[in-house]
Amino acid sequence: MKIACYGVRPLEEPYFEKLNKYGYELKLIPEYLNHENVVLAEGCDAVLVRGNCVCDRQNLEKFKSYGIDWVFTRTVGFNHYDLKAAKELGISISRVPNYSPYAVSNLAFTMGVSLYRHASQAALNILNGDFTMHSDYFASEFNRLTVGIYGAGKIGAIEGKMWKELGAKVVAYDPFPSDFARQYVEFVSEDELLAQADIVSIHVPYFPGKNDKLVNAEYLGKMKQGAVLINTARGELVDTHEVVLALQNKHLAAYGADVVPSETKIIGHKFDSIEEIPDQDVQDLLNLYPRVMLTPHMGSFTEPALEDMISISYENFHEMQETGTTKNVVEYKG
Ligand code: COI
Repeated sequence: MKIACYGVRPLEEPYFEKLNKYGYELKLIPEYLNHENVVLAEGCDAVLVRGNCVCDRQNLEKFKSYGIDWVFTRTVGFNHYDLKAAKELGISISRVPNYSPYAVSNLAFTMGVSLYRHASQAALNILNGDFTMHSDYFASEFNRLTVGIYGAGKIGAIEGKMWKELGAKVVAYDPFPSDFARQYVEFVSEDELLAQADIVSIHVPYFPGKNDKLVNAEYLGKMKQGAVLINTARGELVDTHEVVLALQNKHLAAYGADVVPSETKIIGHKFDSIEEIPDQDVQDLLNLYPRVMLTPHMGSFTEPALEDMISISYENFHEMQETGTTKNVVEYKG
């Protein structure tokens, strides 16, 4: 079987080869899938994508016309698919729901730690020659904080574990509280979490058309004055304009995000100046540095997570060949 794998960075290529225990013929394509390079999948039997690959109706129809019925993703999230189109075209999708949860939670934790202790702020000032003590570096200590995990699946639960190990009180909100998470967090209502937490970390999946801009003015208004907000989930979950306003009026102390809205236009691109970034809200965020910390959707960019993403994807293809479906299949629910 020949698989077209999109969005494979040069550093990742050896892992695709090393973990290829079923001997698939691989076509490794460095670019993320878009409307131009979809044609590279012609002649392949299946496709493997990552987040920010364009799996809209147009590209899915193209795959179908090449005789491809399996377009799998090696990510947890699947918001880059038009699921309705996939179902109508008879294209199967599987994902990797369980790669190392430490990858993303480590980054969320790092952002919380750094922003709360003003580490990046002080480091930036020092880069400009300013070794003075700023009154806004004054802080509490991690063992005295309350951290709110908003969405306590595996990733959120592991972030909770890290904070708990530092002595913080960790509260969480999740409509489906798990026993795994309960080892590290105390489940509370959404309003209780927002009222108590000094740091709120978002870990919910994004469902297009269902929870866009979940973190809006009302949500931010319920957060404690001076809290830090971290988003390593999806940019679309947050109303970035409202976050900018909350930072400007000092209701939020800081915002850390590994994700931005409209990522396909931004992530993976290199701009010569902030003004060239094709999103005014993102420009406004960057003008609030160093109370803002943005990273290029790199939460899952660790060796254990990469190995899981690839080997579980290969298992998904194998299971599909053997049984006609996979335990990680993604269904369109309407
Ligand atoms: C996910 O797995 O959903 C991610 O956000 C990872 C990224 C490579 C898109």
